[in-house]
Amino acid sequence: MVSSKISIPIPDEEILPKANDLGALANRINFETRKNHNKIDKTISVKLLIALTDYRIWRQGLQIFYHMFKNIEILINNELDTLALSEGKTDIKYPNSDAFRFSPDQIQNIDKDLRVASILYQFFDPKMYRAQNLRNDLLVFYNNKDSFESPMHLEQKKFVQHLYSTFQEKPHVLIAYCHVLYLALFAGGKLIRSSILKSTGLFPDIEGKSKNEVVQMATTFFKFDVLDENYFKIRYKTNYELSTRLALTEQEKLDIIEESKYIFDTIYNCVKELEVYNTHRFNTKFKKMGYNAALFILFILFLLYIRRLVLHIIY
Ligand code: HEM
Repeated sequence: MVSSKISIPIPDEEILPKANDLGALANRINFETRKNHNKIDKTISVKLLIALTDYRIWRQGLQIFYHMFKNIEILINNELDTLALSEGKTDIKYPNSDAFRFSPDQIQNIDKDLRVASILYQFFDPKMYRAQNLRNDLLVFYNNKDSFESPMHLEQKKFVQHLYSTFQEKPHVLIAYCHVLYLALFAGGKLIRSSILKSTGLFPDIEGKSKNEVVQMATTFFKFDVLDENYFKIRYKTNYELSTRLALTEQEKLDIIEESKYIFDTIYNCVKELEVYNTHRFNTKFKKMGYNAALFILFILFLLYIRRLVLHIIY
């Protein structure tokens, strides 16, 4: 995360949603996904200890998130561009651009294809984008080769297919990702970042760069280009609440909650899949090592036998 020392004050009354607001979408998602969160939290905390000792496992883990953020951001971008184009305003700054400030009533009545975009415009901040940062980090771990561009593992491929097909039918599910994935970085993501910053052995040596420079280059996923990260998060959450509360139907909110559960479960499945993959790879390597060791012993025994035979013939 950003190592900012600046703390921008926000009056309490401007902070939304309130913790006890049971109707707020973010609170509903957190409440309904608590079990799913706890399951993944435990799994990732354990796997992280292993990933921090082996850069190959770390970069595999980063890829799970790369394919998620990359495809979500393609869709978010398309949405925002479509709205800007339809209004003939392609140079708009968002979020909260006056050019696209819609009331919940207006959003409900807007052209069906532009509804989600009109909500996104109210809260999504381009400083949130993570795919490019993840890509930069992965390039450090892959020695500048972008061999990770397409997902290799089944669960990750399944996710990409799911995202596009669900989006076709229910574009509002994007709003689930805007809470679950992005806010994860301000909570668990902070803990992960502080662990990875201490694991300097994980990072490759790059000629002309100090270790600290390499660490900074390879951890941009966790850093936001903002003055005060906490302020940024609070503003994001407040705008999310303001723009979703009345503009979405109850059915859409239920779809978003379901999609949120799916996101946690998918990450869990992706992590488990990597575990199986690495265990299999380790076993195969171990078996191969065992096989080579057996061959070596046989070879030594063979040499001893020949030696004995030769000695027997000579004497
Ligand atoms: C090592 C793994 C993780 C740890 C230790 C962790 C820890 C936490 C903690 C401490 C909170 C704050 C709870 C609170 O303020 O009440 C939190 C919130 C949250 N976490 Fe995680 N988390 C982990 C993984 C994840 C993952 C993989 C996701 C989803 C991609 C995720 C999504 C969230 C969300 C959406 C919130 C609520 C944020 C908000 O409303 O501001 N977490 N997590």
